[in-house]
Amino acid sequence: MTKKRIGILTSGGDCPGLNAVIRGVVRAADKLDWEVVGFIDGFEGLLQPGDYRILDRRSTAMIMPQGGTILGTTNKGHFISKVGAGDKVGVAPETVENAREILQRLRIEGLILVGGDGSLTTGQQLFEAGFPIIGVPKTIDNDLEATAMTFGFDSAVACVADALDRLHSTGNSHKRVMVLEVMGRHAGWIALYGGLAGGANVILIPELPFSYDKLAEYLLDRDRDGYTSSLVVVAEGAKPLGGEQSVRTAAGVGEYRLGGMGEQVAAEIVARTGKETRCTVLGHLQRGGTPTTLDRILGTRFGVMAVQLINEGRFGTMVSYLNYKVTGVPIAEAVHKLRTVDPLHQMVETARAVDVSFGD
Ligand code: F6P
Repeated sequence: MTKKRIGILTSGGDCPGLNAVIRGVVRAADKLDWEVVGFIDGFEGLLQPGDYRILDRRSTAMIMPQGGTILGTTNKGHFISKVGAGDKVGVAPETVENAREILQRLRIEGLILVGGDGSLTTGQQLFEAGFPIIGVPKTIDNDLEATAMTFGFDSAVACVADALDRLHSTGNSHKRVMVLEVMGRHAGWIALYGGLAGGANVILIPELPFSYDKLAEYLLDRDRDGYTSSLVVVAEGAKPLGGEQSVRTAAGVGEYRLGGMGEQVAAEIVARTGKETRCTVLGHLQRGGTPTTLDRILGTRFGVMAVQLINEGRFGTMVSYLNYKVTGVPIAEAVHKLRTVDPLHQMVETARAVDVSFGD
């Protein structure tokens, strides 16, 4: 008898924990005696003639600790559904029909899409076109609605904390202000959690526009109190009051990239305080490397739930982590609404309580 077949693809920016999802899917599917087809390089694997490989327990053994994705991914290509600052665009109808033909030819009865906001927006479009889509949320930015957490975030936060520990000692030796620019796009979660974990003195996030005057005042106060070095975390999407975010690349294919705010902040600190200051841009170190235990477990749980949702025929659903449980919510509820940091969030209050300045 021919086995039931499901597909999986990883799309958008990679993050630690993707391989844990793939492994979880393969093992849960194997229990049901289903076959798993892995599409290569995200949705691009659905282009004619189809780029894929059969995944089984053997070929996915020992991938749990590996960073990245064994299937490859892209945040460019034919299936882009977000451009510029996140504006929605449709995937071309002929591309959709070509993908449909591939899935039919391969007898795919459920397609698991592991992706962030942009990829899930594409997924929702394909679901509305009749594709049997199940979404699995993924992003280091932790900015997706309808899930309390995405895997990859914890690993990114661990990377930020580690970087801050390193900057702390060298900054201390040289009596410098050490600025660390971190990722997160329009959300300040990585900066907030990483900054708090790494003992940052200042955390600048997009949700709380900062004042250079207040920032300088705070750093000079620290100096007067005898703290000769300081750690300043700058989210790439942070912006000064009345100012703009720093855009690294103009809108092309896909969404524009942020970056450069760390250097701007460092230059203003020098100009306003006279303190010797250095800036480090942590960049893609936050996306690479082995996942933390939390991300391995969350990824595995998400993969297992994705298979369960296919088994229940709940297409158009995204796996979600809510109230300490992994469950399913409509993809439509999760996309196109970023979950940013509420300025009154308890984490912000906690940070303020331990004398972190947000420069506001
Ligand atoms: O969304 C994840 C993310 O790492 C953001 O934090 C960052 O702004 C962006 O992707 C970087 O994209 P790229 O890998 O295309 O430079």
